[in-house]
Amino acid sequence: MAYDNEGIGTQSHAKNNYGEILDGALAISNGKIVWLGKADNLPRYNKNDVNVIDGQGQWLTPGLIDCHTHLVYGGNRANEFEMRLQGKSYQEIAQAGGGIISTVKATRAATEAELLASALPRLTALHQQGVTTVEIKSGYGLDLINEVKMLKVAGQLEKILPITVKRTFLGAHALPTEYKDNADGYIDLVCDEMLPIIAEQKLADSVDVFCESIGFNLAQTEKVFNAAKKHGLSIKAHAEQLSDLGGTELAAKYNALSTDHVEFLSEQGIKAMSAANMTAVLLPGAFYFLRETQLPPVELLRQHGVAMAVATDVNPGTSPLCSILLMLNMACTLFRLTPSEALAGVTCNAAKALGLSTTKGKLAIGFDADLALWNITQPAELCYQFGVNPLSALVQNGDKVI
Ligand code: NIG
Ligand code: FE
Repeated sequence: MAYDNEGIGTQSHAKNNYGEILDGALAISNGKIVWLGKADNLPRYNKNDVNVIDGQGQWLTPGLIDCHTHLVYGGNRANEFEMRLQGKSYQEIAQAGGGIISTVKATRAATEAELLASALPRLTALHQQGVTTVEIKSGYGLDLINEVKMLKVAGQLEKILPITVKRTFLGAHALPTEYKDNADGYIDLVCDEMLPIIAEQKLADSVDVFCESIGFNLAQTEKVFNAAKKHGLSIKAHAEQLSDLGGTELAAKYNALSTDHVEFLSEQGIKAMSAANMTAVLLPGAFYFLRETQLPPVELLRQHGVAMAVATDVNPGTSPLCSILLMLNMACTLFRLTPSEALAGVTCNAAKALGLSTTKGKLAIGFDADLALWNITQPAELCYQFGVNPLSALVQNGDKVI
């Protein structure tokens, strides 16, 4: 297959530099990119052997990567949205047994088929906006059976939609009611019973912990990181979202892939991330939906050369937003990322946050042929406008899927 195009975005680290190739072309063989460059330089090929797609002057980017979602869950929390509008805070609702725990009840009560049916429209919405790789976390089961159920559903989604799913075990997301007042006992269950089985059955690629005042403390988080390391799973952390507990520095010690949220991250934490080559995953949807005011330290992350990814954080409590394009806009309007930084955040830096930086997120020879073709005249349009969908074609592993 060959693409003949106006502009091909490759990767972008520098501001306002998309690494674009104007009047470009790209060739695919066996699901991989095998050539890209100026269309005029395209090696000769026999038209009968090749399926050619004419990009008609549109822009081609890597397929987008949503590197942080919780999109498999039961029920919804519209009632808590109303409660927050009547004056209750997210933390108050969580402490009164709502929040994550109310989604745990609904998720435990749902069958695999029900969870699949409710997750499918959410994942379809992302896919239709150019997402070819998505990360999905567990964390609403909080016991072995239900965590496994969530991870299996996440795996089934990959068989239904042409999308690559990376799974993350988030057993340490909240304390289930049966372990009330026994957080250490629950962490032992996560580390000694759940994690070994999940690793053995290859149900997850990574392990995540909600390290927060309303989640787990540093000592508990470290136990989970140790267990993840022992079982060969990569590490991620929800940290510094609502306060600065130092979860990021701990994650850096364990060579974590990323810390996600990071609104309250200190310069010390940023230095630790930089030294450990971690990615900061920015989640503007949760910031917006919780009406947070503490901005993530974007300028310091830039200064210390920490890669920034951008993701939806799709979940029923803090980010019920299944739109990667809206996240691009919010990363720019709320967090002041440049459009090129925001686009790197959903391509090469999102790949890095998932440990996929050698296979996904860039238009480069040898990379997976996951491509999105957009009916736009310049890349910044993807961040500038929302509510319309400019995707005109999507390719996953070399196959045209939209
Ligand atoms: O990423 N911070 C913890 N986890 C989710 C929220 C989950 C929920 O409220 O259901 C988040 O914001
Ligand atoms: Fe999250």
